[in-house]
Amino acid sequence: MKEVSPCRTEASLSPGHEPEPPIPEPILGKWQKIVNLMAEMLDVPAGLIMRILGADIHVFVSSATKGNPYHPGDHEHFWGSGLYCETVVSKNHELLVPNALLDEAWKNNPDVKLDMISYLGYPIRWPDGKPFGTICVLDCKTNSYSEKYKGLITHFRDIVETHLEIIYTEAKRREELEQLVNERTASLRVAVAQQIEANDRVLAEISERKKTEESLRKAQDDLARISRITTMGELAATIAHEVSQPLLGVMTNGNACLRWLKGAESSSQNLEEARQAVERMIRDGKRASDVILRLRNFFKASGAEKTWLKINEVVEGIVILVQHELTRNHVLIRTDFFEQLPSVQGDSVQLQQVLLNLILNAADALTEVVDRPREITIVTRPESGGVRVEVQDNGVGIEKEKLESIFQPFYTTKTNGMGLGLSISRSIIKNHGGQLVAQPNHGPGTTFCFTLT
Ligand SMILES: Nc1ncnc2c1ncn2[C@@H]1O[C@H](COP(=O)(O)OP(=O)(O)O)[C@@H](O)[C@H]1O
Ligand SMILES: [Mg+2]
Repeated sequence: MKEVSPCRTEASLSPGHEPEPPIPEPILGKWQKIVNLMAEMLDVPAGLIMRILGADIHVFVSSATKGNPYHPGDHEHFWGSGLYCETVVSKNHELLVPNALLDEAWKNNPDVKLDMISYLGYPIRWPDGKPFGTICVLDCKTNSYSEKYKGLITHFRDIVETHLEIIYTEAKRREELEQLVNERTASLRVAVAQQIEANDRVLAEISERKKTEESLRKAQDDLARISRITTMGELAATIAHEVSQPLLGVMTNGNACLRWLKGAESSSQNLEEARQAVERMIRDGKRASDVILRLRNFFKASGAEKTWLKINEVVEGIVILVQHELTRNHVLIRTDFFEQLPSVQGDSVQLQQVLLNLILNAADALTEVVDRPREITIVTRPESGGVRVEVQDNGVGIEKEKLESIFQPFYTTKTNGMGLGLSISRSIIKNHGGQLVAQPNHGPGTTFCFTLT
């Protein structure tokens, strides 16, 4: 035996065979004790456990006895080696050679060179019948080994085979477990992949829907703006009045001021009058520019811009715009504000558009009223953390069964109506997280009501 290689605890791959499980350290320790005991009791130099690994046979465990020429790891090509062990393994049977030198068949075998002229060995098998190797004793003198010794070695062989059975069963169990884990992992991987695919699909759908919603919102904004311009067209007279009124004021006060100044050289009274006239001019100028600013805001094309708003101020802003028009039609508009209202989130231009729609509708519903004062009241009240706004009129009213259909797009009872005001208003309020509803009054007329938070 020439070469030495580490082979005891590693599973070796024999070509074309399953890898054999490694022999754990504690069992190796037990085997060492067995071969030591064996050599000691039989009083021979060598007790061995040999193992076949691949095409080689290895000294796997060797007794720690004096004069033992075999060392763990020594190995040799197995088949055709002419070793005692080759015969034991191939015949799967006990082999006893008391003295090789006297035996034609054995006198030239490789162990004779190491002076090992007698041999007793038994095959060791894995539980599945595959050869593991041999357990054997060798002696440098003639030895016939009694039946008692044979019984002892086969007993040790049985112990080794029991150990192999434990190792084998454990390895099989682990293999099955690994396979199970692999299968589970694979099916889990498939499930995860499917889940990811499904998620991707949902995400794609969501982004598609967002795009649709986005373009819908854009269309709504455009529609709202067009309707704003249309409605404002109806208010052309009012706008002209709202702007020309303060300008007229500026002119009147300017003239008065000039007059005061002419006769003013000495009189401090005249100077004071002139100062007051200039103050009025400034106030009127501011009012005209306020109106223009409000109109410009009202027409601007941008989408909803939500800010914190005081709803009373929003209402007031629109009332100023329509006041003149309403007065012209003999309609009295009043506000009934709750003073300590919480601020709400909203787009003031869009909310003014809603209010304008509701007020103009109310005014339309009042044109035929001749038997009572025509009145519109705008009420603000706190409601569950937000505010409620009501536009009440004492006009012709709406039949109960029409209370919902008036919100349909293009529903109108007016010859020049577009039938879009209420449907746009409702969608604006909905975008603000609120609700716009119509209710018949106890007396004549209708109340439109919406909430904001
Ligand atoms: N305050 C109201 N009183 C009575 N009827 C109303 C009132 N507000 C709206 N309506 C009815 O609802 C219809 C739809 O209103 P709207 O959507 O603003 O469109 P339009 O004003 O162009 O007709 C009106 O034509 C009218 O019949
Ligand atoms: Mg309308």
